[in-house]
Order: sequence, then C-alpha cells, then structure tokens
Amino acid sequence: MTKIALITGITGQDGSYLVEYLLSLNYEVHGIIRRSSSFNTRRIDHLYKDSHAENVNLFLHYGDITDYGRLSGLIREIQPDEVYNLAAQSHVRVSFDMPEYTGQATALGTTCILEALRKNNGDTKFYQASSSEMFGSALPPQSEVTRFHPRSPYAVAKVYSFWMTVNYREAYGMHASNGILFNHESPRRGETFVTKKITSAAAKIKKGIQKFLYLGNLNSKRDWGFTPEYVKGMYDILQLDKPVDLVLATGKSASVYEFLEYVFEYADLDPDKHIKIDPRYFRPSEVESLLGDISKAKNTIGWSPKVNIKDLAKIMTDFDFLENGLEPIGEGVKIMERLGLNWTKIPRNMI
Ligand code: NAP
Ligand code: GDD
Repeated sequence: MTKIALITGITGQDGSYLVEYLLSLNYEVHGIIRRSSSFNTRRIDHLYKDSHAENVNLFLHYGDITDYGRLSGLIREIQPDEVYNLAAQSHVRVSFDMPEYTGQATALGTTCILEALRKNNGDTKFYQASSSEMFGSALPPQSEVTRFHPRSPYAVAKVYSFWMTVNYREAYGMHASNGILFNHESPRRGETFVTKKITSAAAKIKKGIQKFLYLGNLNSKRDWGFTPEYVKGMYDILQLDKPVDLVLATGKSASVYEFLEYVFEYADLDPDKHIKIDPRYFRPSEVESLLGDISKAKNTIGWSPKVNIKDLAKIMTDFDFLENGLEPIGEGVKIMERLGLNWTKIPRNMI
C-alpha cells in the first residue's frame, strides 16, 4: 500500500530534499505551505509543476504551524503514516529579535501538531527536527546524553519541542522521535545562513558585482554536513520499530573562517581583500563549538555521511558560479555526479 507522509516546512531547504527523497520511494506526499503575497515554493516548483496530471502524488495545503485547528483538520483528512515536522523560525540571529514569535512557531507549533496527531488516533509516526543548537555551551563532542545548555531563543524553543516529543512518546506511547541534526548545508540553503552567504559572495566577487563580504564571528566552530544525506537519516529514523532520539553529524568540525578559506581558495580569491566584519552579525550569546558524536546513529540506523566540509564548499561554490552565469570550477560538479545528482543538466531549482 502507498505510504502517506505529511511534511511541515516543505518549502525550506530540508523539506525540498525530503520530498524528493520520499517521492523517489513512491510515497504520497502532502506539504503545508504558508500563504504569501509572492511565491514561496521556489525549491519545490520542479516537483509540483504537473499538479494537474492524473498520477500526481504531491499535494500542497495552505496552513501554519501555529494554527491548531487547521493542522487538526488536515491530519484528519490526510491520515498520514508519517509526519516530518520541519517548520520553524529557524534563524538563530533573528530569534533574538523575535523571541516571542520564535517561541510560537518553533516551540508551540510542535505541540499543535503532536496534539492534533494524538487526537486523531496516535498511530502516526512523528519526526521532530531537533537541533545541535540545543547543546549551546556544552563542551564538544556532543551526543544524545550531553546536557542541553541553549544559548538563544531559537535553541530554547527547540529544547521545549524536544521534550514535548519525548513526553508524547512516554505519556501516550506515540512513535515520536527526535533527530538532533548538526548544521547541514546545500546549494538550496537560505541566503542568510553563513555558508551560503560566503559561497554566493565568492561567485559575485568573481563576477565583479560585489566587492566586500560583511560577516560576524569568524571563530565559532560548526559540524557541517550535506543536506541530502541528512534527509535520508530523517527517513531512516522513522523506519525504526521503536522511537528514538538520534544525533546526525559528520563528526568533524571547522570554524567559519576555515569554511571561508576553503571557498575562497577554491574560487582563487584572497579573503584579506574582500572580508569585513560588521558587529550587527554578532549574537548576544554565541554557540562557540559544535561537534557531533554519531556512534548511536551508526549503530541504530547504519547512518554515516560521505560528504566532508571541503566537498561541501566545492559543491556550493560551483552552484553559485552557475547561478551567477559563470562556468563552474568543476570539482563540486564531479562530486555531485559521483553522488548520483547530475545537476548541471537540470534547472536551477532542481539542485
Ligand atoms: P528553513 O530553510 O528555514 O525552512 C523552514 C521552513 O519552515 C520553511 O518551509 C518555512 O516556510 C517554514 N515555516 C516557518 N515558519 C512557519 C510557520 N509559522 N508555519 C508553517 N511553516 C513555517 O530551515 P531548514 O534548514 O530547512 O531546517 C528545517 C528544520 O530543521 C527547521 O525546523 C530547523 O530549525 C531544523 N534544523 C535545521 C538544521 C540545519 O542545519 N539546516 C539543523 C538542525 C535543525 P517559508 O518557506 O514560507 O518561510
Ligand atoms: N548567519 C550568519 N551570518 N552567521 C554568521 C555570520 C553572518 O554574517 N558571520 C558569522 N556567522 C557565524 C554565526 O555567528 C554562527 O556562529 C555561525 O556563523 C553559523 O551561523 P548560521 O549559518 O546562521 O547557522 P547557525 O549555526 O546559527 O544555525 C543553523 O544551524 C543550526 C544547527 O546547529 C540553523 O540552520 C539552525 O536552524 C540550526 O538548528
């Protein structure tokens, strides 16, 4: 029988790769999108363009993660086998400007969907997009047993959602799991996150349409992986017989400056000539160092990512060269081909 999945946050970076993966497994996929005055489905348009065809298996529904009534109605109507809760106000710096809204969407939104599932029949498997940001100032390496010390309104909201997911599992026996994902990036990453900001700037500087790149803290360290590998991990988590909490990461970390160096070296640019620091990008409290221990994910779902940070820098830079009308340098393209994503032949929004 065809399995049915519901994805919140389907228009985001992760949602767009997850829907592609689930469609490739012949799922019927439903996604919740927000009403917007301009189109916000750029990352999934290539999957949706044949929506009037007979054999369509992707369905989009207007809704908001904070709207319990709508979520409850949709869940009753769709009767999903699996729900992936990816919707969130996901930007850490922005969460300091909008702490209450971040709490409504990133924390209470999770309760809306868990409660809607419980009132439906409680049989649906539930995935919560938990985050390495929850570890905050806890010393690396961080694993499932590391104590959380969140350092932003975003991270505090994610800790709330983590524990609500655990609570619905314990209180109601629901198959509710947390994927505690460390940073994962891709050509589809939002432009205000640091990796995409750097690769996009490298291409624009090369093209001659940008001179300087303004950044904040270059010393913080992150464990950066490649998104398509992580969405497969989300799926694997929900295929387990029992719910779990699992860290997904590469097990290696690098500073923002190191990522910048990899990109600029690959693009043959001198950081000293183009980088400026703008304090507006500093955070009131920073997460200095994230490094994931994936022993449990290896043992439980056999998950272990292949793309390292240098590959990631090349993939993202090649894409941004292409996006800006430049010939890609080529190594990133080859890595994508090796991974079975021969993206130079397909339109930009399929990447
Ligand atoms: P993203 O690109 O920012 O996507 C966020 C998605 O949530 C978008 O589809 C957005 O819709 C939707 N959304 C935001 N507020 C909403 C609301 N009130 N109601 C309904 N939908 C709403 O984030 P991402 O990188 O794909 O991350 C996916 C999830 O994983 C997020 O929960 C994030 O916090 C978490 N996470 C991400 C990482 C990472 O490194 N990427 C690591 C750990 C955890 P619009 O397109 O309309 O804005
Ligand atoms: N965004 C941004 N912009 N970050 C900058 C900049 C800048 O100009 N300059 C330096 N940074 C530093 C930030 O201070 C942070 O230490 C690091 O770069 C990474 O910032 P982001 O790319 O914004 O990601 P993040 O680590 O804060 O959060 C992302 O990863 C989390 C998982 O650990 C988001 O995707 C979260 O949603 C996710 O949970």
